[in-house]
Amino acid sequence: MARKGKVTVIGAGFYGSTTALRLAEYDIFETVVLTDIVEGKPEGLALDINQSRSIEGFESKVIGQATAPDGKGYEATANSDVVVITAGLPRKPGMSRMDLIGVNAGIVRGVAENVAKHSPNAVIIVVSNPLDEMTALAQIATGFPHNRVMGQAGMLDTARFTHFVSEKLNVPISSVKTLTLGSHGETMVPVPSRCTVDGKPLNSFLSEQEVGDLVDRTRNGGAEVVALLKTGSAYYAPSAAAARMAKAVIQDSGEVMPVCAWVDGQYSISGVYLGVEAAIGREGVKKVVETALEPGELAELKSAAEAVRAKQADVKDL
Ligand code: LAC
Repeated sequence: MARKGKVTVIGAGFYGSTTALRLAEYDIFETVVLTDIVEGKPEGLALDINQSRSIEGFESKVIGQATAPDGKGYEATANSDVVVITAGLPRKPGMSRMDLIGVNAGIVRGVAENVAKHSPNAVIIVVSNPLDEMTALAQIATGFPHNRVMGQAGMLDTARFTHFVSEKLNVPISSVKTLTLGSHGETMVPVPSRCTVDGKPLNSFLSEQEVGDLVDRTRNGGAEVVALLKTGSAYYAPSAAAARMAKAVIQDSGEVMPVCAWVDGQYSISGVYLGVEAAIGREGVKKVVETALEPGELAELKSAAEAVRAKQADVKDL
């Protein structure tokens, strides 16, 4: 397939630089731009990735660009088709994602405004934490239509759940299908009725208690990595999820994936960013796809919506 378009990754920490590397290695974009406020870091990482091109065999060009909060440097991101916002602080051991809301709100707001100025038609993928709130804030700060601003979380949480099931049952990862909806945090909603191993229901392999334990581990999946690393948070699985979303956008694939999307009427929930399944394409979220939920799962999704709605109402003032 011919390479086309431009993707920008804001923030050259581990999450951002790994996302840029994955996107470059897909070899589907003409240009991958990596930015950071630390001068020299995005330039150095871009140079390093470009030097791997002949070994890995990709042509996409990576541009590194230092930026400043006043907008300096953002010209390099101009007319991006997709922008992945990773800017912000990661958690330290013992912190919840919500503990980051004050400091990351200021960073994400500034970044989103600069992005919108230079790439008015971009699709934005937010990964900064707390995810559901930062996605809502990026939409407010850009003024973009809701479908063009979404967050990455469901793919990651689902991937973690899938890994834990595969490990527990000692079966190939490809035989396991799982799904999580809701928030990227306390009110994550696992959907056992959509979880299968070789097409058979998960609950025919594991007891309710065992599934519950894996769900808990999934809910704390990010914190478990943070506690082990001691500095910084996870980035291999998160970047894989974010890069897949950017790929679905530029290829206009219509692939249905769990993402943080604007929900307006689906599941009788309205006016909130929430983890749901959505078809992803050139316009961002093409469509929120409702899946059949059991009554308990639907009730959990509704309470997740109310929990994040309350927090999202506050972000416009941060
Ligand atoms: C995690 C962070 C990136 O879940 O939210 O690892």
